[in-house]
Amino acid sequence: MNFNLPLVIVNFKAYQESTGVNGQNMAKDIERLANEIGVNIAVAVQAVDLALIAASVSIPVLAQHVDGVGYGAFTGHIPVTILKPLGVDGSLLNHSERRIGDDHMAAAIAQMKIDGMFSVVCAESVEECEYLVKFNPDLIAIEPPDLIGGEVSVSTAKPHLISDAVKILGSNRVLVGAGIKTANDVKVAKELGACGILVASGVVRAPKPMDILRELCLALK
Ligand code: G3P
Repeated sequence: MNFNLPLVIVNFKAYQESTGVNGQNMAKDIERLANEIGVNIAVAVQAVDLALIAASVSIPVLAQHVDGVGYGAFTGHIPVTILKPLGVDGSLLNHSERRIGDDHMAAAIAQMKIDGMFSVVCAESVEECEYLVKFNPDLIAIEPPDLIGGEVSVSTAKPHLISDAVKILGSNRVLVGAGIKTANDVKVAKELGACGILVASGVVRAPKPMDILRELCLALK
């Protein structure tokens, strides 16, 4: 599975505003916006909502976490292989709120490659970006955990992380997230070489989510 770049990923996390029917409605609004302004926008959705949302929209839908297994005796897992026929296109992995170890990472990415799914691995530091390259994910998202969900963006507080990650990984491989809320946050990330953003609270919890998402997307164009 290939995603077009630049890419905006809206992480629905487990916010009330973006789960269940609220999540379904938000995904439909995002689909309308993506078609209207011609920007690639994907949504990263709670496991419990994946089937509902993947059946409701044609924009890319990502899981927030997967397990590197196929069909079989895997009680309580989120098997990659089961997601594909539901219309799920890929997954985040190793998000700072859902960290995994090397074995999990290797198995999940291997299974995702077999099933033609797109992988976005999250890193908390430039060193971790460098370490994660060996797993060969499609994209790496750098998100300093101390800035996630806050008011100050990575673009403002730690812009050097973006340029350092781009230096190591090359262009077209680095997404940036944490505290992104304004068009300027996105502009800086783009100027420093990021090929997209990962955003959650700045959109999902905004009074008018589509207004702010539109601004962020247009800044990336
Ligand atoms: O995955 C996106 C993320 O963790 C950033 O969250 O709320 O700072 O946009 P937020």
